[in-house]
Amino acid sequence: MIQFSQEKMTKVKEIIARYPEGKHKSALIPVLHLAQEEFGGWLDVPVMDYVAEILSIKPIEVYEVATFYTMFNMNPVGKYVLEVCQTGPCMLSGSDQIISHIKNKLGIAEGETSADGLFTLKPAECLGACGYAPMMQLGKHYREHLTIERVDAIIEELRAAAKN
Ligand code: FES
Repeated sequence: MIQFSQEKMTKVKEIIARYPEGKHKSALIPVLHLAQEEFGGWLDVPVMDYVAEILSIKPIEVYEVATFYTMFNMNPVGKYVLEVCQTGPCMLSGSDQIISHIKNKLGIAEGETSADGLFTLKPAECLGACGYAPMMQLGKHYREHLTIERVDAIIEELRAAAKN
């Protein structure tokens, strides 16, 4: 059965309480973030239906938002999602090479997850950090001025973190 933990449900209620009765849809994006965190890093249909029920809105209203924003994953992902920006400034600074290197190193294509379940490669559009190109988003943090060496170090760092 899909249900938020008590801790997460407390947060959900706090978020909903910020909006007046009948306007709970305004809480949708932060609640979807919590749902993605809670239910394995992605949003499947039963999870989105559960969110709709909590907010007293139609499931289609949740699907529309969840499928529009790339920060929400519609398929299972690895423990770490490498969202490499591929828009102009990052591309001119070498994001193509960074993406190719990640593909070769992890043996995956865009959108795929490595065999060990640790990494998903997800090319992204401009993440607003063009001055630090090339860059990627990793969870709630940005990794900037990427080079092949930096990417290798990040992957090793994450592999080590996953063991702990
Ligand atoms: Fe990559 Fe803007 S183009 S962050």
